[in-house]
Amino acid sequence: MIDPAEAAKRLAAARAVDLVMPGMRLGLGTGSTAAHFVALLGERVAHGLKVIGVPTSERTREQAHALNIPLSTLDETPELDLTIDGADEFDPQLRLIKGGGAALLREKIVAAASTRMVVVTDRSKQVATLGRFPLPVEVDRFGLESSRRHVIAAGQATGCAGTVTLRKTSDGHVLVTDGGHAILDCAFGSIPDPDALARALNAIPGVVEHGLFIGLAKAIIVADAAGVEVIGDLT
Ligand code: 5RP
Repeated sequence: MIDPAEAAKRLAAARAVDLVMPGMRLGLGTGSTAAHFVALLGERVAHGLKVIGVPTSERTREQAHALNIPLSTLDETPELDLTIDGADEFDPQLRLIKGGGAALLREKIVAAASTRMVVVTDRSKQVATLGRFPLPVEVDRFGLESSRRHVIAAGQATGCAGTVTLRKTSDGHVLVTDGGHAILDCAFGSIPDPDALARALNAIPGVVEHGLFIGLAKAIIVADAAGVEVIGDLT
């Protein structure tokens, strides 16, 4: 039996594949929902669709390469038509938390290089207020403890409280991102002012990027057992 959450992710991804037109330059997201999109895109490419993809992680690069999706980089292809990516949370203003899969830096760079970012997700990611999912913050490994304290202070200054912990791998090592950085997970529970928190985090020198995606997603394709809903503008 197919897991209902996986079925919903696949449904959202299938709707997103319909947005892909021949010749498009695509940003390819990271995570289990984005992986459904890449798999479905691979099927279209096998049937003759011509596109170029820029992956947001090494994981996605490997998947897309195995499916013979032509790949590029932002150096060769600095402007993209459409990025399809997942999210860990989204709110009614289409603000996102991303980075559960540790790819937030490349995901944000690729989204910012795209005319449109469309998010694919299942209903479980929809929240009234961001913050239930711990906010990932990518930091340089130099001065980690100092940066962690600055991140706590930025949270406190913008109405957030909770623990900020260094992400580890399942075997207990410090997780290192594709860009060679560490991740701090901020278990704030609720982020009352995401815009203010984003500004405060951006001002910390050791912060490379944070997982608040504000003003980037044009639409969210959200699926559940009842079907697909589009929030925002797909055009
Ligand atoms: C990776 C991400 C993913 O988009 C996010 O974690 C959602 O993943 P999934 O589709 O597996 O729930 O931000 O850094």
